[in-house]
Order: sequence, then structure tokens, then C-alpha cells
Amino acid sequence: MKLGYKISLIVNLVLAMGLGVVAYMIVFPPNVEPHADGRSVVLLSADERNLVLGEMRGLLETVQVVIEAATEGDMETVSTASTAAGMVAAEGESAALLGKLPIEFMTLGMGAHKAFDALALTAQGTDDPLVVLGELGGLLNSCTNCHSGYRLGIEGEDKEE
Ligand code: HEC
Repeated sequence: MKLGYKISLIVNLVLAMGLGVVAYMIVFPPNVEPHADGRSVVLLSADERNLVLGEMRGLLETVQVVIEAATEGDMETVSTASTAAGMVAAEGESAALLGKLPIEFMTLGMGAHKAFDALALTAQGTDDPLVVLGELGGLLNSCTNCHSGYRLGIEGEDKEE
């Protein structure tokens, strides 16, 4: 009886430690580490980081084009620019890169692309700039949500504080 109790205590302790490790791995997978600024650093190769940052600058350009076109009432340009930043833009991502991204990061990223597809559809069905700009405002939440939680780093480099 006493031995059985001891064994179950040990088994439970090992299980609890295992759970702790799993929980830590979910929050910080091997290529994700905490940063002093409170965000999580996603570690990529230098080329992958350049690619992602290039895509980011493309997204900001899309936002600029959409605002300008919407205020001019040019819904065709809103639609074309939004479609280009939609899911088609995510199709070229390599499996190696996607495999390094935390699930939440990936979900936010795909959410942003899908929101651009939705914006393209909206633009095809309205002449009202405020409808487009309102939806764009909501879409920008996916940018700011991700930026407040993540930054990018380069694999194998010393951690910068
Ligand atoms: C899934 C996460 C995610 C989403 C969604 C996202 N970003 Fe980013 N973005 C990042 C990360 C991470 C960085 C790098 C920040 C760092 O390392 O400090 C970044 C950087 C940028 C940069 C700087 C690029 C450079 O060359 O340094 C711009 C501009 C940018 N994002 C625009 C946007 C815009 C606009 C949107 C929405 C339409 C958006 N991002 C959505 C994660 C995201």
C-alpha cells in the first residue's frame, strides 16, 4: 500500500513535469524565444527573415494604395491591390519557413491574408469609401496584434536584449 502510494506519487510528479515541458514547448518551440521587450522572437534564417520583412513592406504598400484608391472612389484598384495581398500572396511560402512559425503567428498571418480577400469582395460590391476604410481599419488589428506579440531574429545569433 505504502509502496503503491510512493509509486503513484512519483508517476504523478513525472507526468506533471512532462506537462510543464510540453506547455513550455507550445509557448516557446525550439525556434522561438522570449525577448526582453516582452515579445516572442521567431528565429529564422537571414534569407527567410528578409523575405518576411519584404512581404511586410508589401502589406504596408497595399494599405497605402487601398486608402488612396478608396478616397478617390476607385474600387477597382482597391479590389486588385487587396486580392494581391490575399491568400494568393501566401501560396509561395516554403514548408520549411511555415514549419518554423508558431501556430498563433501563422493563424494571425493567414487571418490578415483572408481579410484582404474579404476586402476585395467588399470593394466589388460598394461605391462607399467609408465602407472600405472601415473594413480596412478592422483589418489593421491583425497587423497590430501580431506586431505586439512577435519580432523576428536570426537563428544562431547571440540574443540581443
Ligand atoms: C503574423 C504576424 C504579422 C502580421 C499579421 C503582420 N505583421 Fe508586420 N511584422 C511582423 C513581424 C514579426 C515583424 C518584424 C518586427 C521586428 O522584428 O521587430 C513585422 C514587420 C513589419 C514591418 C517592418 C518591415 C521592415 O522592413 O522592417 C512593416 C512595415 C509591417 N510589418 C507591416 C505590416 C502590415 C501593414 C500588416 C497588416 C496588413 C502586418 N505587418 C501584419 C509580423 C506580422
